[in-house]
Amino acid sequence: MSAIPFTESPTGFDDTTQLDRTFTGRENELSQVFNLFQSLERRRILIYGRIGIGKSAFLLEALATLRRNLPRKLFTYTALPAELDLATAALIALAQELPDDDWAQNTLHQMGIPTAKAIKERTTEASANVVFGAKMSEKSAPQGKLQYPTAALDTLIDRALKKYPEGVVIAIDDLDKQNPARVRQLMHDAQGILKGRAWFMLTGHPTGITADLLTTERGLFDLQIELKELDQKTTYQMLVNYLDSVRIKDHCTDPSDPRSVLPFSPETARHFCQVSQGKPRLFNRLGTIVLNRAAELQADKITPEVLQAGLKSAAPKLQERAALNFQEERVRSRLQERGSLSDETIEIEDLEQLGVRSFSELVPILEKLEEADLAHQILRSDAQEFAAIDLPFGEFIDTE
Ligand SMILES: Nc1ncnc2c1ncn2[C@@H]1O[C@H](COP(=O)(O)OP(=O)(O)O)[C@@H](O)[C@H]1O
Ligand SMILES: [Mg+2]
Repeated sequence: MSAIPFTESPTGFDDTTQLDRTFTGRENELSQVFNLFQSLERRRILIYGRIGIGKSAFLLEALATLRRNLPRKLFTYTALPAELDLATAALIALAQELPDDDWAQNTLHQMGIPTAKAIKERTTEASANVVFGAKMSEKSAPQGKLQYPTAALDTLIDRALKKYPEGVVIAIDDLDKQNPARVRQLMHDAQGILKGRAWFMLTGHPTGITADLLTTERGLFDLQIELKELDQKTTYQMLVNYLDSVRIKDHCTDPSDPRSVLPFSPETARHFCQVSQGKPRLFNRLGTIVLNRAAELQADKITPEVLQAGLKSAAPKLQERAALNFQEERVRSRLQERGSLSDETIEIEDLEQLGVRSFSELVPILEKLEEADLAHQILRSDAQEFAAIDLPFGEFIDTE
């Protein structure tokens, strides 16, 4: 195998080739979304789940399919930048999909954002500099803030609806990357636009966006989908699809054929899927680490020993990337010792030694560990519990 198929984030809205080849499962959830799109009335959809579970990939996959099948609707997508409110982010995304609308292009220009045409026509930074007089990339923040983004968005939605009377869909991703307090504020400020004339699809983290919305804002969303871990069979098929996505010849996506998981064997493929726990980002991160380790060992097959060596190198790699501070590292190693930490069973002594007064003060640290794939939350309705990710730490663990 020459290329590594795994990636930490899904590729974007404008080129879904990689995603089309690798996206696996979620059939039920996708059909729920597609069913809603049978309606002509505008709808609001919330996709929520923990970080790395596959919300962005799901949203992009749903949008790609919808876009192919519903050419009379306009689909827009934005990964919410940290510094923007929802209205401004939606406005920019929508304006960029309306290259022939002068009002839209003027608005972008006023904000100092390369217009849709400018992005498509001027691909080099040098020529963009001439036009805007400053170094700017497609993703750069607006330089001139709009005074009334909500009103501007309303106007733009009206204009877009004239061209696309069957509907304008605004997908806003990455709300899970903001802290819960900020998400609450953003959602509060966006009530007006969310209740307006566009369709909305949002992604969020269960404790940020949803905990509040599900209780206090019932009715705001017509459909709420929680994404959970993939089952082992789907995870295995996902591995097959990823591996096949970089094959130049000898394509094989039939999981009952052992060639479909090469350079893994069916046995090491299954073991790899188990360790990945059906969590797509962990799966992708571990996949990269394991294949890299195999390359270092000049192994052309992932035997149980090679897999073990790869998995052994994963924990230190993930830790290094996480760049934990002293306290976070202490929490990590305590979690490792205990196997799991929960608000139900945590002892005063643990709290004292970890330098916090209550379990809730540990939660942000545990979430940071989760973000780094060094911990994961166990879904329980009665308690908050985090467990260590079960990776071999130094000692040899039998692959059975
Ligand atoms: N169902 C799936 N099939 C294939 N790859 C997936 C799937 N779900 C997620 N991924 C991949 O896993 C990684 C993490 O998923 P992502 O969508 O970024 O998670 P989230 O947005 O919930 O944090 C990305 O590389 C993504 O493309
Ligand atoms: Mg995401």
